[in-house]
Amino acid sequence: MADNLPSDVQLPDTPSHPAPRLGSGMSTKLLLLTILFVMLSEVMIYVPSLANFRNTWLAERLERTTIALLVAEKAGKIDMLSEEATKDILKQLGVQTIAVRRDGLRQLIAMSDMPGMVTSEFRVNEMVPGDAILEALKTLLNGSERTTRVVAGTPEFSNGEVAEVEIVLNEGALHDAMIVHSFNILKLSLMISVITAALVFLALRALFVRPIRRVTQNMLRFAQDPEDASRVIATSERSDEIGVAQNQLSHMQSELQLMLAEKRTLADLGLAVSKISHDLRNILATAVLFSDRLQTIDDPAVQRFAPKLVRALDRAIDYCQSTLAYGRAREAEPSIRVVQLHTLVEEVAEVLGLDEHDSIQFQNKVSETIVVDADPDQLFRIILNLCRNSVQAMKDSGGGTTGSIVNSLSISASLADNSCSITVSDTGPGIADSQKGLLFKAFQSRSGMGGTGLGLAIASELVQAHEGTLQLDDSAQGASFTICLPRARIVGNAEQKLHLIQDKGESRA
Ligand SMILES: Nc1ncnc2c1ncn2[C@@H]1O[C@H](COP(=O)(O)OP(=O)(O)OP(=O)(O)O)[C@@H](O)[C@H]1O
Ligand SMILES: [Mg+2]
Repeated sequence: MADNLPSDVQLPDTPSHPAPRLGSGMSTKLLLLTILFVMLSEVMIYVPSLANFRNTWLAERLERTTIALLVAEKAGKIDMLSEEATKDILKQLGVQTIAVRRDGLRQLIAMSDMPGMVTSEFRVNEMVPGDAILEALKTLLNGSERTTRVVAGTPEFSNGEVAEVEIVLNEGALHDAMIVHSFNILKLSLMISVITAALVFLALRALFVRPIRRVTQNMLRFAQDPEDASRVIATSERSDEIGVAQNQLSHMQSELQLMLAEKRTLADLGLAVSKISHDLRNILATAVLFSDRLQTIDDPAVQRFAPKLVRALDRAIDYCQSTLAYGRAREAEPSIRVVQLHTLVEEVAEVLGLDEHDSIQFQNKVSETIVVDADPDQLFRIILNLCRNSVQAMKDSGGGTTGSIVNSLSISASLADNSCSITVSDTGPGIADSQKGLLFKAFQSRSGMGGTGLGLAIASELVQAHEGTLQLDDSAQGASFTICLPRARIVGNAEQKLHLIQDKGESRA
């Protein structure tokens, strides 16, 4: 592919990107992240749930004890229990002591052999969440060594007193229950994580990862051969960001292919021009030899035309030479000299046969005193292109069919602040509005009348090389172009004027 491209088309290096390694792709990262986040949220739920578990467990223990106490109270046998029976009940209830507080007095109801030293107190329904979490964590870490007093208000006793029941218990059993509870939560969390992660993973994979991977793979494939039309990604129906990205990519790839095709055409054309210039130069050189011989013939008509013929041929050889020397697309740098504008315009008119034209009246309105600093050959080509267009346009519009003068072409020049404005105006059909935007772009403005669409592009490029401007004027009738060159002046001496033209034809002669 690279062989087909013109030398000035720079394609970026396209390193071959391997497909992502197993485990390093987006899908795997997504899966792991989802599991991690679900686990994190489970931990955040687990800690308060553990505190809640402890509160409920202790409250339940107290409730069971209170119910047993109420039953014994109702039966009136609370004081008649033997020591053995009391211990047995305490063991069943999982507590070490039971006490009741009435009117600020604490009455011990039952007590096991060795109640431990009370290390913490839990008041049912009065625990703030932060403390509850802290206590739960302590129990989880060190439960069997903790002895807790659990206190809560109870319903009225049979005699109508309001009492507070209090139990003291070792947290060992609570610790074991919390461990079991934690394992259950862990198993549940893992299950939820895996199921959620799998669902999220599958959804994201279908919605995002696959389409993005498709786009990425297409970019890699396209980069390997941007000229292959089958590698342009298809447009997407999706209206979200991925759809927009895919459509934009498709558009950019198509545009790039058009640009590459255009560049290739220009490169081919450049090569063809070089070949033509090469052979044309050889043929013209032969023609110059014959023209030189013509100058030896005494016929006045031959003597009049032969130098002009030689000069025209010389110019043509120079164009071919510079095309070959400076490459296909670029013009040679202007070789600036002092040029008498009036005479240069006369020469253009001669070459185009305007001085004796049967249907176009030509007027050279340029003052003989104006000289400009310019490359005479390039300025000649600029004005020649403009005039040739005028002649062509007036001919196409029927100006040349009757043989009578119906159109005119005039060239005038004026000086201001050392710069010179040269205006080429005709009375032809004028420029169509549709052509105006692309008039100075190569190959863009041809009218289909046999032109190539290069003349104005060349003229514009040459004017710019002189740091000047070329523009289309608004004209009521026909077309009018103005060339503005930055360096010009008036010379007064008529004799000096005549010798200012140092063009190549004269120097060669
Ligand atoms: N004086 C004019 N009057 C009317 N139309 C013009 C005039 N000058 C240029 N144009 C239009 O602009 C187009 C572009 O001119 P340009 O000189 O760039 O290319 P061309 O004349 O078509 O081909 P070539 O490369 O042979 O000069 C012409 O085809 C013509 O339609
Ligand atoms: Mg032209």
